[in-house]
Amino acid sequence: MGEKRDGFVGVFDSGVGGISVLRSLVAELPHEDFRFFGDSANAPYGEKTEAQVLDLSRSIVERFLADGAKAIVIACNTATSVSAATLRAAHPDVPIVGIEPALKPAARALPHGRILVMATEVTLRLDKYHELARAWGGECEVISVPCPGLAARIERGELDAPDLTEMIRGFVGEYAGSVDAVVLGCTHYPFVRSQIAKVLGSNVRFFDGGAGTARQLRARLDAEGLLALRERTGHVEFASSLDTPGELGLYRRFFALRI
Ligand code: DGL
Repeated sequence: MGEKRDGFVGVFDSGVGGISVLRSLVAELPHEDFRFFGDSANAPYGEKTEAQVLDLSRSIVERFLADGAKAIVIACNTATSVSAATLRAAHPDVPIVGIEPALKPAARALPHGRILVMATEVTLRLDKYHELARAWGGECEVISVPCPGLAARIERGELDAPDLTEMIRGFVGEYAGSVDAVVLGCTHYPFVRSQIAKVLGSNVRFFDGGAGTARQLRARLDAEGLLALRERTGHVEFASSLDTPGELGLYRRFFALRI
């Protein structure tokens, strides 16, 4: 049996969104092996009940751990809000890193700014988000915009299609020219950053939680003596609950996309 530090990091999301986080993880920790699981057969999580999201997240984490994962990244704001605390309590020996809307860096950068937070309905409804907004909203004006259907639309790919920009306009069009920043509080949304900028104006600044999550994973692995010591570049593997011929190709395409 190899050393624990030689194990892989399991990363999951309801679907392609987590790949935006995976990109940050690989950039921060290029020597780690990552296994990404997209639960695209059950996406979107943001429109499910909390009990459903918890059950789905739990079974993914249990499968990763049975396969020997040394750490887990919940690359989904919705699943983090619902299940991170429960999963950490169930597996206290395993680093389980989650993601949250990047309101803290946005508010630090723009202390008196008008900040739009785009996320799923579940993320915006739960206490965890309200506590975050209370703690970091400060002097900012925080406008929370649930975007039902947007993650599901991104799951289908075809990011340049006009209907997608129209959908985004429906959610945030009324704020065109009047906000300073957008927090992409769902890991699917970085893939439509340019479409959101097209609707809101090119001066808007964007914040997402990918880089912060990657730094957090590095800190946790380091603290537990779990950082990979190998010289070679890590492997990145993809799996999906959606067993259609094109799905893993879509994941790889999103992994390589310029955003
Ligand atoms: N990507 C997920 C998030 O960060 C959820 C999208 C969904 O499945 O609704 O919240």
